[in-house]
Amino acid sequence: MRQIANMQTWLLSLFICLVLGFISNAPCLALPDYYDDYYDDLETASGGPPEPLIKLDNIFVDPPYFDRAEIEISAEPNADVLMNCDVKNFHANNVVIWYKDQTVIVNGQHSMNERFEALKNNSIVLRSAQLDDEGNYFCTVLPQNITQNVVLTIEKAFSIRCDGRDVLDRSIVYRQGESHVCECKSAGGEESNIKWFLNNRRSSDVELEIEDNAIFIDPVDEHHAGIYQCMDDDGSPTPKHGRFEVIVYYAPKVSTHRHHVNTELGGIAELYCDYRSHPIATTRWLKNNQYLSLSEKYMMSYAAEQHFNRSTLTVRDVAVEDLGEYKCQAENTIGSSEMKVHLMLEPERGQFESVEINGNVVTLYWLVRSLQPLSEAVLDYKMTGAYTWSTTTVLHTHRHEAGIWKVTHEMELLPGEWQTRMKTKNTVGWSKFSAPYIFTIGEESEDDTMVDIVDDKENVVIAGFGGGAKEQKASDSARCHLSLYVLLLLVPTTLLRQRFFTRH
Ligand SMILES: *[C@@H]1O[C@H](CO)[C@@H](O)[C@H](O)[C@H]1NC(C)=O
Ligand SMILES: *[C@@H]1O[C@H](CO)[C@@H](O)[C@H](O)[C@H]1NC(C)=O
Ligand SMILES: *[C@@H]1O[C@H](CO)[C@@H](O)[C@H](O)[C@H]1NC(C)=O
Repeated sequence: MRQIANMQTWLLSLFICLVLGFISNAPCLALPDYYDDYYDDLETASGGPPEPLIKLDNIFVDPPYFDRAEIEISAEPNADVLMNCDVKNFHANNVVIWYKDQTVIVNGQHSMNERFEALKNNSIVLRSAQLDDEGNYFCTVLPQNITQNVVLTIEKAFSIRCDGRDVLDRSIVYRQGESHVCECKSAGGEESNIKWFLNNRRSSDVELEIEDNAIFIDPVDEHHAGIYQCMDDDGSPTPKHGRFEVIVYYAPKVSTHRHHVNTELGGIAELYCDYRSHPIATTRWLKNNQYLSLSEKYMMSYAAEQHFNRSTLTVRDVAVEDLGEYKCQAENTIGSSEMKVHLMLEPERGQFESVEINGNVVTLYWLVRSLQPLSEAVLDYKMTGAYTWSTTTVLHTHRHEAGIWKVTHEMELLPGEWQTRMKTKNTVGWSKFSAPYIFTIGEESEDDTMVDIVDDKENVVIAGFGGGAKEQKASDSARCHLSLYVLLLLVPTTLLRQRFFTRH
């Protein structure tokens, strides 16, 4: 199509040309030298004749034009910036005028502003670019009055952009599940010097995903919230740095330190629902899928802790029908989540408290909550990798009133990695097993440490596993026998109770 149109216009111009030629006697279709360039440019024209459109000194040439109306360039501060006027078909009668916004800065070869130098090829050079130099420059070609816009941005000495947006010194809100990329740039700096921090911790410590100075926050979650800092660690005493804050909106996260709550009939029970959320969440309690409301039976209270908020459901005058499963639901504008709590008469799961390892002898401490007296404790242990648990039971129990029991168990084991778990029984029934606890007995010299340990402990009830006296066992090779001493210590002290509470 284009070629046909070309042909038509050419024929038309040829006709005009011939008429003019006839009048003026000027050489008509003799092409000036610069047409050679034109042919070079028009590779696809397959030898078709050019498009003579304007008249210049009695000959027809192509009008100047720009391939692109707008060009974006960016420069570092203090650098000299070359701005080209990419005009095609520039002819001897054309003049270029450069503007910054409305102001003429270069007219033809004359610079109106000493900071700009006019080059022969219509380009200009801006000396020592500053932030103020950012903006729109226009290269206008007269007489056709066509313009190209050159948009100049000066790179900040230091910039942080998330998804292309400047976030330096700002607070941005991201929602859970989104993905974002934040990039840090230091003008003139080495890429390898860039270091990222989140809440004053090195990016490697907080497992931030980093690639080419950019951090990938993907998918956004609660732990991404905080102050991000980027530093160009170039070894100077005042490295360039910048920061921004990320606020994360996430659905509530609900937990409790007691999924099973021991109580007694006629007593008062408290169920805890700990939750974190942003924005703020509301919580509700359910029993048998019915929302609970304030009544003689139920009371709800709220408390703000440092890292979570707690909703407490108080059940008064506990009856058999009050036992069973409760749910805590937390909801905010992002989503909702829920958690189950069981109210029961059986002992709560044992909570591992501490371990002491002395040679081949390990002493394990657990805490158990039960308002009812404990009648039995069972301890399972096995070497890691073994299929079955070995079980030991303890017959000695002690009555007490605090509702918290301390279970102490001491045994001598072969070197290796061991797992252990325990459960207790009260007058109503068995608790669930505690979460397994893993510990390692190291290879060691044949020290007779056993005697020392047992001698150190007063008020220890030895349950008599392994039959023989402990001194005998200890003097035997630990490699030959698995000697087992079970000690159950039930200590009803308010001191322990305090420790138990502060752990959570
Ligand atoms: C114009 O001249 C300068 C300096 O000689 C050169 O760097 C620049 O690339 C030229 N511009 C164009 C569009 O050729
Ligand atoms: C060039 O065109 C612009 C509009 O595109 C007009 O405002 C301006 O006056 C024109 N300049 C000349 C010299 O004709
Ligand atoms: C706890 O609740 C308060 C409002 O009562 C809220 O401002 C705060 O952010 C909450 N804390 C957490 C960790 O959700």
